[in-house]
Amino acid sequence: MRNFIQKALNKLPKLDKEQIRNLLFDLASENELLEVVLDSIPDGILVVDLDNRLITLNRSVEKMICFKVPDPSDQIIWEVVEDDEIAEFIKKVLKKGDRVTEEEFTLSFSGIMKTICLDILPLVKDGSIQGNVILVSDITEKKRKEARLRRAESLASLTTLAAGVAHEIKNPLGSIGIHIQLMQKALKRDKALTQETAGNFLAIINEEVERLNEIIVDFLFAVRPMNTSLTLTRINSVVTDLIEFVKHELEQNGIVIHMDLDPNIPKIYMDEKYMKQALLNIIKNAEAAMPEGGELTVQTFEGDGMVHLHIKDTGTGISEDNMAKIFEPYFTTKDFGSGLGLTVVYKIIKEHDGEIFLDSKEGEGTVFMLTFPIPQKVKRLLDWRGGNEV
Ligand SMILES: Nc1ncnc2c1ncn2[C@@H]1O[C@H](COP(=O)(O)OP(=O)(O)OP(=O)(O)O)[C@@H](O)[C@H]1O
Ligand SMILES: [Mg+2]
Repeated sequence: MRNFIQKALNKLPKLDKEQIRNLLFDLASENELLEVVLDSIPDGILVVDLDNRLITLNRSVEKMICFKVPDPSDQIIWEVVEDDEIAEFIKKVLKKGDRVTEEEFTLSFSGIMKTICLDILPLVKDGSIQGNVILVSDITEKKRKEARLRRAESLASLTTLAAGVAHEIKNPLGSIGIHIQLMQKALKRDKALTQETAGNFLAIINEEVERLNEIIVDFLFAVRPMNTSLTLTRINSVVTDLIEFVKHELEQNGIVIHMDLDPNIPKIYMDEKYMKQALLNIIKNAEAAMPEGGELTVQTFEGDGMVHLHIKDTGTGISEDNMAKIFEPYFTTKDFGSGLGLTVVYKIIKEHDGEIFLDSKEGEGTVFMLTFPIPQKVKRLLDWRGGNEV
């Protein structure tokens, strides 16, 4: 199209009235097509020039952003955006010449909560910046879907956990039943049950009741809603505190600790108490995997908008078969393990919106890789005062 216009402009002095009319007609229909395309896009588009004046907007944007005036064209964008917080944010970004992606705003729109997402990108033409494009998307449904998925995920893990408990309590319950039956049989026989035999049976029953109690206590710890209180914290401080706490024991077991912590790592929202619990469980597993000693490396770094924490050991490693099972409640390869350690880790990491991955090779070692999102600067509850239709 641009080439066509350029050619037409070059030829303009030679064109007659009819040809100029046709040219204008073509241009108008081309422009109309462009408008139709822009208006058909479900995301909102705002284009501002270098003076931050609004030069183009599509129809979708009016469903998400309210303007103070009926025609905001040619106006300084932040002066016409109705919502003060959004206007202030756009002003700050445009004045700084920043490029911002996925800034979220939660708005109450006539009582309905809406989450919109703003991307501000430079408009580049012929290698130079000519203005900015502000993309506005309504991510309310996406957010709801994510929340539904999280609920389904936690429900699914609760089901596995419940199945695990059912399996765990079967043995002690069976044993209690058998010993009660034995006592009943002995009582039915003429000969009275001796005090010694009764004492032995009762001791076994007592032991099994204790075991049942332990299972329930562990279960409750794993499923109880976590009362996390998240504050902006640098993960390095949690790591160093924890390593200080376990250092002596690890060194006594012949484990050399390496720390490689990025001093500029951004803060993330965290509940220190729970995070320490999760990291301790991972470190304890690493320790158990290195009975002859070895190396424990703890590394933090930033990448892809995430804070990364790697905990690596040079222990036994995990077989491929077991790899899929280790987060399952009650899965253990240890004689005295509860098998809930990593279940709790998983729950805590999820509570922090984090992800957990691992890589392991039998005979070489294991690395647990945790990632946490770096929080966005703006996540406020803004009150929508506009009245556009939704
Ligand atoms: N770093 C590791 N190296 C090798 N195996 C591991 C490692 N971490 C976990 N595992 C395997 O995963 C299993 C489950 O770990 P989890 O922490 O859930 O339970 P556990 O350690 O067996 O018991 P508990 O944590 O209650 O003492 C372990 O039994 C072990 O087989
Ligand atoms: Mg463990």
